[in-house]
Amino acid sequence: MKKSILITGGAGFIGSHVVREFVTKYPAYQIINLDALTYAGNLENLKDIENRSNYTFVKGDITDAAHIFALFNEYKPDGVIHLAAESHVDRSITDPSAFVTTNVIGTVNLLNAAKEIWKDNYQGKRFHHVSTDEVYGALGDTGLFTEDTKYDPHSPYSASKASSDHFVRAYHDTYGLPIVLTNCSNNYGPNHFPEKLIPLCIHNILNNKSLPIYGDGKYTRDWLFVIDHAKAINLVFHKGKNGDSYNVGGFNEWQNIDLVKELCKQVDEKLGRPKGTSAKLITFVKDRPGHDLRYAIDASKINKELGYKPSVTFEEGLSKTIDWFLSNQAWLDNVTSGDYQKYYDKQYS
Ligand code: NAD
Ligand code: TYD
Repeated sequence: MKKSILITGGAGFIGSHVVREFVTKYPAYQIINLDALTYAGNLENLKDIENRSNYTFVKGDITDAAHIFALFNEYKPDGVIHLAAESHVDRSITDPSAFVTTNVIGTVNLLNAAKEIWKDNYQGKRFHHVSTDEVYGALGDTGLFTEDTKYDPHSPYSASKASSDHFVRAYHDTYGLPIVLTNCSNNYGPNHFPEKLIPLCIHNILNNKSLPIYGDGKYTRDWLFVIDHAKAINLVFHKGKNGDSYNVGGFNEWQNIDLVKELCKQVDEKLGRPKGTSAKLITFVKDRPGHDLRYAIDASKINKELGYKPSVTFEEGLSKTIDWFLSNQAWLDNVTSGDYQKYYDKQYS
């Protein structure tokens, strides 16, 4: 019988790349994409694979426990790759409750359903929880997050993800549920919703709007190309050790201001504009409350144990990302119509 894998949040930014990775590489798996299609979910992200015979889309909300149980009974997944979440820090500052409901309660609903359906036999089963490096809190100017770094989340988003990580481990420790976790750094790439720094700046450059840099712009993030994250998830899902966590990152730290300047430079070159055109749009704005100074991942465990290495350099990944946005302006126009404008005005006015 075909192995069936349930991927949650597969219509979102990272989830759509994970779905594509599995649907195209594993014809012998049946991939079920469960997504509520919130503002961040978009089936356009999966147009190229939607008719594949090993792919099924189900619209559903992970906070609806009864529906989740019914789905697990219907599809009897052998594996779960859980990405569905509220994912934006700024939105978590405005409305923390939605993050608790989806990220914590939604995760527990999935764990309960997996535990129930797999209860007689855990053989060949796996619950892969996709999480973030933000659970570790903030670093100073030096040091890296390892898998042993103590959790110290600061934003409502990272607190909700930390809580969900703890629940996943608790189900392993208490009930023996087979699990793996990945904690990844900031992703960028095609299909990125333009509320996050990189796609927001690309969208604003194309519309000649200011590029809002929080505080002094010296905040630092480690950036990984989204397709390399999808490959890491594939590797850990298949080869990771039961019960273990793996940090995923690119050893690629950038201060926000330098990153946005690099982005401006590349966009100007691609559009044949004079040097410095886009950088003139950079505007320093009020800081994010509780803004974490620096995230940086030590990804040596996944490298040493599973042989993982990102496939592109940051310059290549950024170039591919800009090219994708330049060739998909209809996608960008579509996701920035309607409610996006209200969100943007409220967040940046
Ligand atoms: P996203 O916001 O782009 O997508 C989230 C997806 O989840 C959307 O398709 C949305 O419709 C769906 N969703 C939201 N609430 C749901 C619910 N209640 N029921 C079912 N589906 C629901 O997020 P993303 O950036 O693709 O992140 C995916 C996962 O990876 C998240 O768990 C996030 O915490 C984690 N992560 C993200 C990053 C990053 O840089 N974006 C880095 C590390 C980890
Ligand atoms: P973001 O893309 O929201 O990801 P995260 O908060 O998960 O790291 O932000 C990346 C960095 O960019 C972070 O330090 C906040 C900063 N930032 C800005 O300076 N301006 C913006 O408009 C946004 C959205 C983010």
